[in-house]
Amino acid sequence: MTPSSDPIDQNAETSESLRFSPNFVFGVATAAYQIEGAVTTDGRGASIWDTFSHTPGKVKNGDTGDNACDHYHRWASDLDLVQSLGVDAYRFSIAWPRLYPSGKGALNPKGLAFYDRLIDGCLERGIRAFPTLYHWDLPQALADKGGWTDRGTAEAFAEYSATVMDHYGDRIDAVTTFNEPWCSSILSHLHGVHAPGKKNLDTTLAVVHGQHLAHGLSVQAMRASRDTVPLGIVLNAQSVYPATDRDEDLAAAQRHETFNNALFFDPLFNAQYPQAVVDALGDRLPSGWQDDMSTIHQPLDYWGLNYYCPHYVTDADLSSNAYPASKAFERPSVPRTDIGWEIDASTMTDLLLKLSDQYTLPPCYITENGAAYNHDVVQGRIADAPRTEYMQQHLAAVAKAINQGVDIRGYFAWSLMDNFEWAEGYDMRFGLVHVDYATQTRTLKDSALWYQALMQSRSQ
Ligand code: FCB
Repeated sequence: MTPSSDPIDQNAETSESLRFSPNFVFGVATAAYQIEGAVTTDGRGASIWDTFSHTPGKVKNGDTGDNACDHYHRWASDLDLVQSLGVDAYRFSIAWPRLYPSGKGALNPKGLAFYDRLIDGCLERGIRAFPTLYHWDLPQALADKGGWTDRGTAEAFAEYSATVMDHYGDRIDAVTTFNEPWCSSILSHLHGVHAPGKKNLDTTLAVVHGQHLAHGLSVQAMRASRDTVPLGIVLNAQSVYPATDRDEDLAAAQRHETFNNALFFDPLFNAQYPQAVVDALGDRLPSGWQDDMSTIHQPLDYWGLNYYCPHYVTDADLSSNAYPASKAFERPSVPRTDIGWEIDASTMTDLLLKLSDQYTLPPCYITENGAAYNHDVVQGRIADAPRTEYMQQHLAAVAKAINQGVDIRGYFAWSLMDNFEWAEGYDMRFGLVHVDYATQTRTLKDSALWYQALMQSRSQ
C-alpha cells in the first residue's frame, strides 16, 4: 500500500475500510497524566508521575504533566474533536488519585464528577467509552507505603475498581484494568526509565506479582459490582527476533521473550509463571506467590495489544547469560520513526499469529498503534504523510491477522493528540491532532484527515 500525498484519497480509504467488518471498532486513545494537566485541581492527589517528572534529570527538558494538554478544562472541545473524526470509541484512562487522592479511604466527589462529565460527554456524542483504570499514575501515598510491592496496594486497587464500576458501570463499554504492566514493572523498576525510576530485580518481581494480583482482585471486584461490562487487560507484547542465528543470540532472544512476554501472559491466561523464570528466579518472587495464581487467572472478555515496533536481541557483550539478561540490537539502516523505533508492520501480524497459537486468548483489540513524527505546522497544515503510511501499513497487518483467523475486534490510534510522552517529555509527538502547548491550539494533521476519511468511507 502506498501512501497518498493527498490525505483524502477516497479510493485508498474505501478499499482499506472494506477489510474490516461493520462491527469492527475504530477509536482513538489517550491517558490521564499525558493530557489532563490540572494536577492539583479539585482535590487530585499526587501520583508517582508528579514526583518523578519533578525530579531533575528524569524527563527530557524537565517537562512535567502539570499542564499537558489542559484536557481537564478542555474535555468538551476535545470530545468534539473525537466526534469530528467519526470514530466509534474513545479509550482514555481514569486518574486513580483524582478519585482517591491518597489511593484509598475518602472518595473525592469532584474527581468522580470529572469522569461523569467525560463519560456523559462521550454518550452525548455517540462515542463509546473504553476507560482504563491504571495507566501508571499510582497515588504517591501508596507508593510511600511500598507501592505495588505491598499487597495493600492491590487491595486498594480492587476498591477503586469497584467504585468505578458501581458509579460508571451503566455508561461504559469496557474496562481495562492495567495498561502495559510491563512498563509499570520492568521499565520502571528494573530499567529505571519510568516512575518511580528504580533499578532492582527483586523489587521488579514483587511489582510484577503485585500488579498481577491487583488485576485479579480488580476483575473479581468489578464483576461483583456489575457483571455485564466487558473486562480486559492491555499488554505491550513484544515481537522478538534474534539479531543473528548464532546459538547465543537465539538463547538471548528466548530469554528475552520469556521474561518480557510470558512473564505476563502465562499467569494471566494459564495461572502459572513460566517454568524458566521459576527455575531461575522463583526464590526471589514474593513468598506465597503460588497461592495467588488462581486469583490472578480470571476469565477475561478481551485483551488489548499495544504495538509499535519489533525488538531484536543479541547476547553480545553480556557478562552473564543468567535471567533476565538480554541486550537490544539496533539494526542498522532500517526505517525508523522520529523516536527511533523500527517500522516493520509484518512483525505485528507475526506476533498476533504467534500469540494466538501459544495461548487460548479472548478476543483482541489493538488498543494502541501509532507513530512519533514531529512535523511542524506550516501555514496551518501538518503534512505528516509518514504517520498515515505507518497506520495504513499496520491496519493492513491487522487485516492480515484477521484473515488468518485471529479474532480482532477493534483498532485504537495512539494518540488522539500530541501529549506528554513520559520520559521523552513533549518532544515526541504521537498525535493525529497537533497541540501547540503555548496556546493549547489543536490542529488536525493530514493523518487525522486521512483517519476521518477512512471512518466516513465505512458508512458509504
Ligand atoms: C505506550 C503507552 C502510551 C504511549 C505510547 C507511545 O507504551 O501506553 O501511553 O506513551 O506508548
